[in-house]
Amino acid sequence: MKPTQPHFARNLASEGDVNLSARRRQWEAQCLDDATRAMLAEDSRHFLHQSLSTPCFNALKASSGIWLEDLQGRRIMDFHGNSVHQVGYGHPKVVAAMKEALDVLPFSPRRFTNRYAVDLAARLTSLAPGDLNRVLFAPGGAEAIGIALKLARIATGRHKTVSMWDAFHGASLDAISIGGEAIFRRGVGPLLPGTEHVPPCDPRDCRFKCGGACDASCADYVEYVLGKEEDVAAVVVETVRATDVQAPPPEYYRRLREYCDRHGALLILDEIPSCLGRTGKIFAFEHYGIVPDMVVIGKGLGGAAFPMAAVIVREGLNVAADRALGHYTHEKSSLGCAAALATLDVIESEGLLARTTALGERALSRMKLMQSRQPSIVDARNVGLFLAIELDRAQIAEDVMYRCLSKGLSFKVGQGTVLVLAPPLIIAEHDLDGALDIVESSITEATSA
Ligand SMILES: Cc1ncc(COP(=O)(O)O)c(C=O)c1O
Repeated sequence: MKPTQPHFARNLASEGDVNLSARRRQWEAQCLDDATRAMLAEDSRHFLHQSLSTPCFNALKASSGIWLEDLQGRRIMDFHGNSVHQVGYGHPKVVAAMKEALDVLPFSPRRFTNRYAVDLAARLTSLAPGDLNRVLFAPGGAEAIGIALKLARIATGRHKTVSMWDAFHGASLDAISIGGEAIFRRGVGPLLPGTEHVPPCDPRDCRFKCGGACDASCADYVEYVLGKEEDVAAVVVETVRATDVQAPPPEYYRRLREYCDRHGALLILDEIPSCLGRTGKIFAFEHYGIVPDMVVIGKGLGGAAFPMAAVIVREGLNVAADRALGHYTHEKSSLGCAAALATLDVIESEGLLARTTALGERALSRMKLMQSRQPSIVDARNVGLFLAIELDRAQIAEDVMYRCLSKGLSFKVGQGTVLVLAPPLIIAEHDLDGALDIVESSITEATSA
């Protein structure tokens, strides 16, 4: 069973640690120098305040490889990185490719194509299985999700969607309509109509009481809704839920695929944070032996340097030639495409898929050992280098996070109690081991404080 915490607290902390807590203020009071405080005050004066960012809690001056460097010169291993940093920060091949594009073709207006964009489109569709043969690029994940939703409406002539509670698909109004987190949905007025929500596959907190051994009743419930509504355009799912690293069993996706086909709904997988090696495969759905109708990728696609996302869809969905699906200014960014091509090169030439699988297994055994010694750990799990350590109390999770930050390790806390560790895939074994040592010593301190 999942640890319990008040709904409001869990909702507030679903996507990440909040910036309003007393523990944060305590950390700031103890750990920041005057120059940092002054910059934070300036930041706070100029930016709109919002949950999960401004006011910020520290300031950076540099990033390189797996490291961030703050204004005070402290080095911090980045196991958060907003999931953009599969190849680390400032990878020389990414930097060289972007510099070359900057010199040659810094911007490509949308009505022209360019070699970088065409090569990236060809590369992505050749990596994608089945007939996922068509792409559109966008400057961010939420915009790419919006493209997928529009295309699903046009292709099916239907507008309804089924998506998951607790899911995140981006912060725009259309994306929060299919997302399932109160912190984004609360108090912003009417969202998109026809966006049905169902419980996600979460065997440890199963609404259908599977008792931890998923029997895919949650997938059967999706079919129940598809049957009742009759005219759903798409089922939208994060293949691996990023906020707490939940990976459904293969049977779940086998059934979703079958049910979508039976009811004429498209299956859209959101792999914005989980694509390009994070799970040990280029696409997370490759773990499941199914092919979606559309997959949406982003974040690391831009090589930890440029905002890039993409929708990759089945050939048969090339049906909207008379409409504008995306039409974003940076739709064929030479710079972004150069960064993406270099990122794919690095993943291949440095064998990052196999490396991620091996490092993920190494981390999991270390985390299981930690669990055997730390009663506050209720679960340890991974999908590649998406690592999760679930604790029994939100207060402990938050305390552990700030203790780790003080020792030079940054990660996020998802759903209030889950330490979500997402290191760059290029990380050295000894750094990964060192980070897990920091986590364990911090748990020991937090639980004995
Ligand atoms: C699963 C998922 N979908 C969509 C998004 C939105 O991506 P972006 O922030 O690039 O709009 C995110 C970002 O965190 C995400 O984690």
